[in-house]
Amino acid sequence: MRVGILTGGGDCPGLNAVIRAVVRKGINKHHWEIIGIREGWKGLLGETKIQLLGINDVSGILHRGGTILKTSRTNPLRDGGTAEQLAKNMKKLNIECLVAVGGEDTLGVAQKLSEQGIKLVGVPKTIDNDLSGTDQTFGFDTAVNIAMEAIDRLHTTAESHNRVLVCEVMGRHTGWIALYAGLAGGGDVILIPERPVNIEKICDLIRRRHGRGKDFSIVVVSEGAQISFDEGISSNGTLIVQDTNVDQFGHMHLGGIATLLAPEIERRTEFETRAVILGHIQRGGAPTAFDRVLATRYGSAAVDLIAEGKFGQMVALRGNEIVGVELTSAVYCLKKVDDRMIEMAEEYIG
Ligand code: F6P
Repeated sequence: MRVGILTGGGDCPGLNAVIRAVVRKGINKHHWEIIGIREGWKGLLGETKIQLLGINDVSGILHRGGTILKTSRTNPLRDGGTAEQLAKNMKKLNIECLVAVGGEDTLGVAQKLSEQGIKLVGVPKTIDNDLSGTDQTFGFDTAVNIAMEAIDRLHTTAESHNRVLVCEVMGRHTGWIALYAGLAGGGDVILIPERPVNIEKICDLIRRRHGRGKDFSIVVVSEGAQISFDEGISSNGTLIVQDTNVDQFGHMHLGGIATLLAPEIERRTEFETRAVILGHIQRGGAPTAFDRVLATRYGSAAVDLIAEGKFGQMVALRGNEIVGVELTSAVYCLKKVDDRMIEMAEEYIG
């Protein structure tokens, strides 16, 4: 059997570990031919871009960030694209089924293709950890550790200069990275999209801390946090975007809230404040041990799903078990930070 594998959406640490696991188990256990489809769904459109993957092609990639298959944010069902076209291209390449490794967009497409009869299984990837159906996506742990280390480093410089440092992290419309990195890094104020907040409340928290004799503070803000700069504290705040153009899946380019927040904090509290935006650093470089193992377990379980003919499913972490769940359960809504977690972290959240 010929099995295709593609990685779609934003890259994230652990993608190569999944590819390696699928290739090794697919070949060694089942004697399948594994075909790498390059640049996500784009590689199955028009002039298809593929490469045969042998054991040697995946040797030495476990610890490497990014994806040897490259990725794209191409939506193959846009501009008149159809499942039939993709099915035809798969047939031309003799690819019987697919492993789609991606987040809400890539797996959203996978789910629609699966409904149209294309045989595939999904693997949940994203640093944002916002996919339903699984307790955790791979890539998240690495992003949190990178952000945590940055926050640790910001502590020493903030303390030396008696400054407030506002550290912006990714995460789109959920605050998983901000909350976990903020808690792990000892952020003094953590701002997440799930909890819109007024600027005065943030300033009060900082003033209170400095009133206790502290002369520096770290604010961790999620790029999708909604902060109201109005005087009344009831407003829900606004989403800050880099530009209002949307990508092929309808997402605006977020980012930059820290550069708005820092001068406001400085003006209102009179504490010197600087902004730091971590950006794509959170997606680059080597995966953590946790993500390498999780990604390997996911890759291995994806092969099992195919061998068992359980198409239309996604591998998922539930507790400490890897299970198969319906793709629909992963893409029907974003997984937001839950109330219990927010309640636990109440003291630190703005
Ligand atoms: O979904 C992952 C993510 O890194 C988000 O946290 C971020 O908003 C977005 O991708 C950035 O996208 P791009 O790499 O296209 O700038």
